[in-house]
Amino acid sequence: MWKDFPLFPDSASSLSDRVDALYFFLIGVSGFFASLICALVVIFSFKYKRRSPKERGAAIEGSLALELVWTIIPFSLTLVMFVWGARVYFAAVVPPADASELYVVGKQWMWKLQHPQGQREINELHVPVGQAVRLTMTSEDVIHSFYVPAFRMKQDVLPGRYTHAWFRATKAGEYHLFCAEYCGTKHSGMIGTVHVMEPQDYERWLSGAMAGETTAEAGRRLYESLRCDACHPVQAQAGVPAGAPVARGPSLVGAFGTLVALADGGTAVVDEEYVRESILRPMQRVTKDYEPLMPSYEGQLGEEQVLQIIAYLKTLGAAPAAGGGR
Ligand code: CUA
Repeated sequence: MWKDFPLFPDSASSLSDRVDALYFFLIGVSGFFASLICALVVIFSFKYKRRSPKERGAAIEGSLALELVWTIIPFSLTLVMFVWGARVYFAAVVPPADASELYVVGKQWMWKLQHPQGQREINELHVPVGQAVRLTMTSEDVIHSFYVPAFRMKQDVLPGRYTHAWFRATKAGEYHLFCAEYCGTKHSGMIGTVHVMEPQDYERWLSGAMAGETTAEAGRRLYESLRCDACHPVQAQAGVPAGAPVARGPSLVGAFGTLVALADGGTAVVDEEYVRESILRPMQRVTKDYEPLMPSYEGQLGEEQVLQIIAYLKTLGAAPAAGGGR
């Protein structure tokens, strides 16, 4: 209904109607009370105006009923806003299990996107209708913000760490992609297009867009060319006999998503953030029982390459059963 109204974006994701409903509820409540208060200010200013210099106002004794009414009504309304808002928020931040991965790197002044199948795009994003897509995002320089109004999705993209967002497009079409954080001279030009395609069109696009190698394969190539496997062997780990010499670094087979013990006594979940940190600042959180030998790859690897290595590590087997014996 709002499609032709230029100030209101299209509604094209599984969340956009829920976000809109909440938005209109908040606007409605605010508008109602703002109008009510404005009207009462005007009406009372006439009704209770001082009619002669000698006139004195009557003493006000207070009213328990009135106090209760204007406490309970706003309290209930704010509770509704809180619960409703929290439900929409959790739906917006927790991606469904079937979501496919998409890696996003922002830089002055463009969006670089990488599909798991290996296709890379700049300022263009092709996604199929109905498929949930989880974004892992970082920046090479300053803070940007990935904003697709038609999906009601906006997430800051920060240098030095990963942020996540997800969406499920529900309607084929082309939608604006904006940078929503002022990031320098050409911030306003840091825009792009999201192409939401019917699944068969998307398949055609995928096979037509030259991929060469998947993101995980690119990661494996990096892993091998940087000789990561010299310290973190990935072959034949399952069959290491007891007492065999241990590698210099912990095995990364099946490590992604698990909890590791750290040298300082703490623990860490092996997630994207931890792997990135271990590559760029390996001394930060060293795995228990290993010497802090690993060199930093800061400056040698770009954010896209770190993401490729992460994609590769994710493919290295499922998490082993408890007590993996590393
Ligand atoms: Cu990037 Cu504004």
